[in-house]
Amino acid sequence: MAKDFIPWRGSFNTNIVEIDDQHKKLVALINELYKAYIEKQQKKIIEKVIDELINYTVYHFEIEENYFKQFEYENTEEHIKEHQEFVKSVESFKHKFGKNERVLTTEMLLFLQKWITGHILGSDMKYIECFKNNGLIL
Ligand SMILES: [Fe+2]
Ligand SMILES: [Fe+2]
Repeated sequence: MAKDFIPWRGSFNTNIVEIDDQHKKLVALINELYKAYIEKQQKKIIEKVIDELINYTVYHFEIEENYFKQFEYENTEEHIKEHQEFVKSVESFKHKFGKNERVLTTEMLLFLQKWITGHILGSDMKYIECFKNNGLIL
């Protein structure tokens, strides 16, 4: 089996099971998009994966943001802003993909890889202490 585009790393773990499961699913969807891309799958199949990625991302962000509110997390505003900008970018990629398939997907995949890795290791790691202090472990 070919190596994943983004292999899961131990450093991605927040050790909050709910969050880690969702991050694994997000990474898996990006890997699926990569696979569809290198296999030169039909446009509509790639578009389906992009839609799934957008929907799951929105779902995951909502869960994080609900905890921010519930726990009065101090970096709520800037974190939500990062989420919103990401969704906007992926939606814009999706829109442009409709016009130019190949070039766009390369650019999109590199963006997704860089963003998800940086966001989990950077911004998401910052809320762990707050979440755990509020009793969220499992
Ligand atoms: Fe996250
Ligand atoms: Fe986040």
